[in-house]
Amino acid sequence: MTARQQPKNLWIGRWGFVLAATGSAVGLGNIWKFPYMTGEYGGGAFVLVYLACILCIGIPAMMTEIAFGRRGRGSPIDAVKRVAQESGRGKIWSGFGWMSMLAGFMILSFYVVVAGWSLAYLWKAISGGLQGGSVDDMAAIFGANNANPLTLGAWSTLVTVVTMFIVGKGVQEGIERSMRWMMPGMVLLLLAMIVYAMFSGGFGEAVTFLFSFEVGKLSSAGLLAAMGHAFFTLSLSAGAIMAYGAYLPDNKSIARTTFTVAICDTLIALMAGLAIFPAIFANGMDPASGPGLIFMSLPLAFQQMPLGNVLQVIFFVMLSVAALTSAVSMIEATVAWLTERKGMSRKAAAWSSGIVLWLLSTLAMLSFNLGADWTLAGKNFFDWLDYLTSRWMMPLGGLGLCLMAGFLLRDEIFRDELRLSRWQHALWLLMVRYVSPLGIVLIFIDALGVMTIDIGSQWAWFLAALVVITVLGEMLSPRVRRQFTG
Ligand code: PHE
Repeated sequence: MTARQQPKNLWIGRWGFVLAATGSAVGLGNIWKFPYMTGEYGGGAFVLVYLACILCIGIPAMMTEIAFGRRGRGSPIDAVKRVAQESGRGKIWSGFGWMSMLAGFMILSFYVVVAGWSLAYLWKAISGGLQGGSVDDMAAIFGANNANPLTLGAWSTLVTVVTMFIVGKGVQEGIERSMRWMMPGMVLLLLAMIVYAMFSGGFGEAVTFLFSFEVGKLSSAGLLAAMGHAFFTLSLSAGAIMAYGAYLPDNKSIARTTFTVAICDTLIALMAGLAIFPAIFANGMDPASGPGLIFMSLPLAFQQMPLGNVLQVIFFVMLSVAALTSAVSMIEATVAWLTERKGMSRKAAAWSSGIVLWLLSTLAMLSFNLGADWTLAGKNFFDWLDYLTSRWMMPLGGLGLCLMAGFLLRDEIFRDELRLSRWQHALWLLMVRYVSPLGIVLIFIDALGVMTIDIGSQWAWFLAALVVITVLGEMLSPRVRRQFTG
């Protein structure tokens, strides 16, 4: 099989892919995780390494994923298989496609629970249910929200139903169309919050917190978290970007669209920081309060501000929209696979995967109440889903695809898809062959706990390792010699 695959579905609008991929990338990761991680890992220093990880690991990996998707023109499983076969490799490589699809599905099953919190909080904000005088009061509200499996389950079920409804309507009619208003709407709400923050105190402090790069505050834990988060926030190795890439028209530049999506994603994460931290600082709260930051500290801060109630509604609408646009992308890979391979209609595929998802997400939701004690090695079901996907499956998928593209598959395929200049292509190869893999291996070493990584004192070793591996790799790989000799 050598000929290019013929596309079945394509984004219609000029911005179709960018909107959908940005919708996928911008989600709870940007508005919930990024601010609290920045708070925990010390502000500007974390922001700086995060930006470096996006640039060196996230962007090359995203280009690779889109290239796989567009070349293979199918669900991640088929796309990876076709690209591998085009290079004379066996079907076995589609294992990485399987893993991405599964990762997307697993992430979605806990993501809908957090998205459900967001909807529940929106409702509380509208109905005046977020009153309290201290962080403890807010923690009690959060606890009560999670204690009842019926209401908590109802909110995550609602998220699941809306997601399946949009996906079931199809790529253009459902996904592309809804993104056209959800994305600009979300950005407008975020801007409104920032404008408010500029005039209500705490803004200067927030800017300093986010952008003063104090090297001393940089921790290895922060760096590893930033690397893992680069995958999560760009929706990599979860089937989403590859599935969307399958609908990218041939004439679009993969590099340009990747940069646009990554820049929008980063800007929105930083904007979320600028919207959230001023309220935290203006009320003398601690930015390092962990996952509860936007569900406990922020509502408390809002209460003490003029127009805080309106702001709170705006915030949770925005959060829910951001979560929804990401949720849609996580299931697209599965739906595409069911329609292409099992001959199902879009609707049947969406609703049947919705049912399986609902069962899994119910287990995740029960981790906060009835199933709080169903733990294995100290982690409940929800934690396991999060841990397995973000610590193992996403990095492993990223590693697999990067190494496949870098060493195993025909380079012409990627030249043909990426259409970079010679030096840009060499730079991309350097990243997917060595820089991303080494970073990912560090994530694994850390997750396995076989060695304590302390970048501060060991950075020279890592750099030396990178150089040695690169030189050895290049000497051993005949393709590279061809690469530079033309
Ligand atoms: N990128 C999304 C976020 O930041 C999460 C996501 C992960 C979406 C994987 C799709 C696939 O919230």
